[in-house]
Amino acid sequence: MLRNACNSGLRDAEREKMKVAIGSDHAGYALKEEVKELLKTLDAEVVDCGTETPDSVDYPDFGEKVSSLISTGKIEKGILICGTGVGMSMVANKFPNVRAALCNDLFCARMSRQHNDANILVMGGRIIGKDLAAEIVRIWMTTPFEGARHLNRLMKIKKIEECLNAHET
Ligand code: RB5
Repeated sequence: MLRNACNSGLRDAEREKMKVAIGSDHAGYALKEEVKELLKTLDAEVVDCGTETPDSVDYPDFGEKVSSLISTGKIEKGILICGTGVGMSMVANKFPNVRAALCNDLFCARMSRQHNDANILVMGGRIIGKDLAAEIVRIWMTTPFEGARHLNRLMKIKKIEECLNAHET
């Protein structure tokens, strides 16, 4: 929001691009490559955390790379793709400050931004095709958080996270 407001008087070349970290396993690799191209048309700077080939890999390794960038605030938004999206969601939501949403449809994509302020979008490369994924990504990237009562609910999630971390240490 603030970034857009600050950027609004700037020429295209001067406008700061939003960075998006993206990662997948082998089952999400083909869709990841498609989504990277789409992100460029949305004027996002893509940080590709792999995988780099369709060879079999373990999704937690790539989920961790993207999620740690979001968790530490180094990058604002991330996208993760595995076969179903389930495994990547499990990994991502282990990280503090990450609100990962598995969205294989347009309604969830919109609501996960409006109500949940999701900062990682997760999709299933074996479930959706590239055209649906493109629309999901477009909606997810452009829909703002509504705040208000939803902010209070997110603060409750944060509190749960902090309590659980305190018990561990
Ligand atoms: C890989 O075969 C598959 O298990 C993985 O992509 C994912 O769907 C896990 O949740």
